Amino acid sequence: MRAVVADDHGGPEVLRVTERAVSEPGPTEVRIEVAYTSVNFADIEKRRGTYPNREAIHSPDPPYVPGMEAAGRVADAGSDTDYDPGDRVFVVVEPECYRESITVPATRVHRVPDGVGLEVASGTVQFLTAHNALFACGGLTAGETVLVHAGAGGVGTAALQLTDSVDCTVYTTASTEEKRELTRELGADRAVDYTTESIRQVAADELDGGFDLVLDGVGGKTFRRSVRTLASGGRLVTYGLASGDVPSVAAPRLLFDNRSVVGYHLEDAETNLPQRVASAREAVLDGFARDELELVTDRSFPLRRADDAHRHVEDRESVGKVLLEVGQ
Ligand SMILES: NC(=O)c1ccc[n+]([C@@H]2O[C@H](COP(=O)([O-])OP(=O)(O)OC[C@H]3O[C@@H](n4cnc5c(N)ncnc54)[C@H](OP(=O)(O)O)[C@@H]3O)[C@@H](O)[C@H]2O)c1
Repeated sequence: MRAVVADDHGGPEVLRVTERAVSEPGPTEVRIEVAYTSVNFADIEKRRGTYPNREAIHSPDPPYVPGMEAAGRVADAGSDTDYDPGDRVFVVVEPECYRESITVPATRVHRVPDGVGLEVASGTVQFLTAHNALFACGGLTAGETVLVHAGAGGVGTAALQLTDSVDCTVYTTASTEEKRELTRELGADRAVDYTTESIRQVAADELDGGFDLVLDGVGGKTFRRSVRTLASGGRLVTYGLASGDVPSVAAPRLLFDNRSVVGYHLEDAETNLPQRVASAREAVLDGFARDELELVTDRSFPLRRADDAHRHVEDRESVGKVLLEVGQ
């Protein structure tokens, strides 16, 4: 069975294809023949050795198999599970997904509903994050104005679509006109070119008081500037640090304007707030099955070209999700 291994911390070249033994499932486990896995930005941060949370279960020392989500068919199911060979299933925030075959506890497995493709089910991390950030953490309600940073990215394309269920005004940011055009197609009312326009100036010129909600997965300067654009009572959900710069905020900036900064981490939520993730999963799968949500992808790569897939994402050429096709 082929798997991709990160030999060391470093650039995409540390990823190489290797042979691993297939692990037979125990009575409470399921072995999945993986059809698709996908790239998350965290895979890149962990490969570089810069993922800030060293306690996270998915931040291993090399050599290790990267990847945190996959979808495929059950190849072999333990006697104490409800699964049968051929069942269409997926796993989320599960380690070592860049491989042809994965054996996991049945409790970690979810069924792929009818009408939802395996490729779509292999890319739910960003949708679950966007859903929890907008609603459970951000409390988005009708009449509010929300800013989604990096709207053409994986979480961004998910968040823009999910705001459609609420009668709100949606601002977003993106670095190129091609990306901004995509965000408008996904429902953004205003796509800001942050390379030439200041988001603080945009908020001052166009909004009465500022944003009610900001979703920020970029961190650093973007985070610090965004805190200053919040309206009284506004919330900023921090869920990532794509710029590599860890933000901080002075409490008085929050205190005197009833502003909040809320953190979100899917892996921690899966373990400690499972109901929160389960309700997002239900809504997201339902949205896919009804064709109300779409997994935006610009490219997929064969598993053996995981290095090129990482390059594509970290060079900021990707929009939406980048898939790895395992049968290729
Ligand atoms: N907390 C969680 O559970 C969770 C879950 C999923 C993702 N995340 C995190 O959220 C962040 C975004 O994830 P994603 O999947 O949406 O990633 P993505 O698809 O790669 O999008 C990230 C976007 O951020 C923008 N960006 C700004 N500065 C950047 C920089 N220095 N390097 C790279 N991109 C930069 C780019 O858009 P422009 O070119 O338009 O600027 C890029 O397209 C990552 O930090 C990721 O680890 C967290």
